[in-house]
Order: sequence, then structure tokens, then C-alpha cells
Amino acid sequence: TGVTTLDPGFVNTASCVSSITFIDGDKGVLQYRGYPIEQLAEKATFIEVAYLLIYGELPSKQQLDDFNGKIARRMMLDERMRELFRAFPRGAHPMQVLGAGVTALGSFNRDTLDVHDQAQIEEASLRLLGSMPTLAAYAYKSSVGAPFLYPQTKLGYVENYLRLSFGTPQEEYEIDDDVVRAFETLFILHADHEQNASTSTVRLVGSADANIYASMSSGVHALSGPLHGGANQAVLEMLREISKEGLNIKDFVAQVKDKKSGVKLMGFGHRVYKNYDPRAKIIKGHADRLLRNSGTSNHLLEMALELEEAALNDDYFISRKLYPNVDFYTGLIYEAMGFPAQHFTALFALGRLPGWIAQWREQHAEPGRKIGRPRQIYIGPGQRDYAPINER
Ligand code: CMC
Repeated sequence: TGVTTLDPGFVNTASCVSSITFIDGDKGVLQYRGYPIEQLAEKATFIEVAYLLIYGELPSKQQLDDFNGKIARRMMLDERMRELFRAFPRGAHPMQVLGAGVTALGSFNRDTLDVHDQAQIEEASLRLLGSMPTLAAYAYKSSVGAPFLYPQTKLGYVENYLRLSFGTPQEEYEIDDDVVRAFETLFILHADHEQNASTSTVRLVGSADANIYASMSSGVHALSGPLHGGANQAVLEMLREISKEGLNIKDFVAQVKDKKSGVKLMGFGHRVYKNYDPRAKIIKGHADRLLRNSGTSNHLLEMALELEEAALNDDYFISRKLYPNVDFYTGLIYEAMGFPAQHFTALFALGRLPGWIAQWREQHAEPGRKIGRPRQIYIGPGQRDYAPINER
């Protein structure tokens, strides 16, 4: 037994050692395997970063081609899985459908469930990376009742995903290189973030030797919460609500500061970043450029900029070290690219998948690893005697 230390929300407790992602929250530093996020976001492709996270080093040209090919060949889902999407009601939240899809993927790949077999872990990782864009795109397609397309091995990861989401069987899908590059960057920025709620969930579920699909699907569901990945949807809904109600920014900020209102400034604040979120800084630049070029949603972008400015100059936010996080501007970009707000968090999940896989594998490779089993401090009644029902 020994002494049990109470740390609700894991504010001070490390749950593992890891060589994947480094964050210095005071300085606004984020590195994957030692590489600064700014360099990766600008120069790398998402699949290159996925390789880096999972295998520890950047791939050579040949390793990257090989990895891309293996993933592309695993994008097609078992035909029976279409029934799964049809079973969900129109308008079902894509994160629920995606979570169910990832779980179902395990049933369709039963020869990759043995967590003690390295070859099966490898195959399952590739299968997940390949299938996730298809699952996310079909979750979107089924939510709007549009026909599904098949992936094409000749297309890249992001291209495939965009075509599966927005292409139709009647017409060739036109790929916009700027949009592809924006998604490469966004996915890279989301690819890992050490022991956040969803990654810790993946590790905890994985620590019980649950299969990798079950672990990843638990990650999807943890990510769906508005305090975590669901914040990107919540930010856009917040901006729309402010606009619809005709609130001015000052009044909205006053509402947020009044704790009784229960209103938060979504997309602000972070457990670890207390100076700025380096991901938000990169995204803000993209949002500015992309939205000004697309000509859409300028009104919401102006509002977001005004809101950020007001918060950054307000004592409430300054004293609590609250800054815009990764989710503050992403929704505006996703909206400009045609995604409905409900679908934003699925985009986060697509980006985060390599991180979850890398963390799951790192944990599994650890010698003498233990099942995750937090303790508690009991505060309920002391021992008492059972009373028969007619005496209560
Ligand atoms: N709006 C208003 N007040 C806030 C906010 C916010 N967004 N975030 C924190 N605070 C206040 C909080 O009420 C508390 O005040 P006080 O000290 O008076 O009680 C203080 O700031 C410290 O906040 P906390 O809740 O103790 O901080 P935390 O580390 O437990 O929570 C957080 C971090 C991200 C959950 C929180 O900042 C939040 O709810 N933000 C809004 C949701 C959001 O944008 N989430 C995305 C996070 S980043 C990407 C991801 O993980 O998916």
C-alpha cells in the first residue's frame, strides 16, 4: 500500500517516460523527436512526420516511398464496413462514427490483434494509418447522405482524404495544391502532444493489453470532448453565436470573466503552455493568408482577431496566463475548406493518429511495463452494517 499522493487532473504527475515529444510550456517549445515543430510544419510532409514519430528517425527517400506505398495500399476498407456507416442516423456526429469505425476495423483485421507479435503490431499500425482517412471521409459522407468513393493508390495521403471527402462519382476531383499543403501543415501540428487526455487514454487502455484498435478508438472518444479536440468545433460555434446574438466583443469577454455565466473562451488556455502555444502561432499565419485569399468567413476571422486582441490585453487572461491554443484558428480554416463544424474534430483525430500509435508502441516496447492503475483517496462512509429493506 504505502503513501498515496493525490493529484487530480495529473497537474504534477508524470505517468511515463517517453522519447517522442518534448514540450517546454514556459518557453512555447514543441519538438518531435528533437525536431522543432516550426521546421517540420514548414518543410515536412505529414507521412514523413508520422514515420518520424513512430520509428524515431526521419525516413530516407526510399523508406518514405515504401511507407507511403504500404499506407496507400491499406486505404480500402472491407466492403462490409459500408453497412456500419449506413446504420448511423443522418447527422450523427462524425467522432462517434469514427470511434465505432476504428473499433470495427479491429474485427475486420483479426489477424493483427496480438499485442505481443511485432509483425502484427506493424501491420495494424499501417492498417490504421491507411484506413483512418477513409473512415473519416465516409463518416462525413454518410452524415450528409452523399455517395462513397474508393481511395486511389496513385494519390497521396492528403489528396486521397480530400477527394474521398469532397469528390463525387460524376466528376474528376480537382486537387488544389495550396489546400493540400495547408492540410499537411495542420496534420503535422496535431501529430503528437505527449500525455494529453486522449494519448493518456490510449496508453491506459493499451496498458491492459487491449488491442491497438480498441486503444485508438478510446483515443478518438477522449479527443471528442470540447475541453480537448472538440474545442475546434466549439470555437466556431462560439464565434457564430456571438455573431448571431449581435454581442459585442467586450460584452462577450465580460461574460467569460463572470464565472457564474459558465461561459469559457473556447480555444484559449492550456495546461502546459503558459506563454504561447507554438502551434497556434503557425496556424494564425495560415488562417490569415488562406481566409483572405478565399474571401469567405472574413467576418468570423475579424471577430476571432478582435477577441484574441481583447483577451490578450485583459487582466483576467493575463493573470491566468491564458493564450490562444491550437484550436482557436483551425476551425476557421476548416470551414473555409468546406467542412461543417461537426467534422472538425475528426480532422484533429486524423492528425493525432501517428502520435497515438507511436505512444502505444513505445509503451509496448518498454521492458517490465505495468498495467496503468491509479490509486484514489477514499472519502465515503466508514464501515456500517447492512439493514434489511423494510428497516430502511
Ligand atoms: N476561458 C475562461 N477562463 C479560463 C479558460 C478559458 N478558456 N481556460 C482556463 N480558464 C481559467 C479557469 O477558469 C481558471 O480560473 P481560476 O484560477 O479563477 O479558477 C484558470 O483559468 C486556470 O484554468 P484551469 O481550468 O485550471 O486550467 P487547466 O489546465 O485545468 O485547463 C483547459 C486547461 C485547456 C482545459 C482550459 O484552459 C479550457 O477549458 N480551455 C477551453 C477549451 C479549449 O480550448 N481546449 C483546447 C485545449 S488545446 C488542444 C487540445 O487539447 O485539444
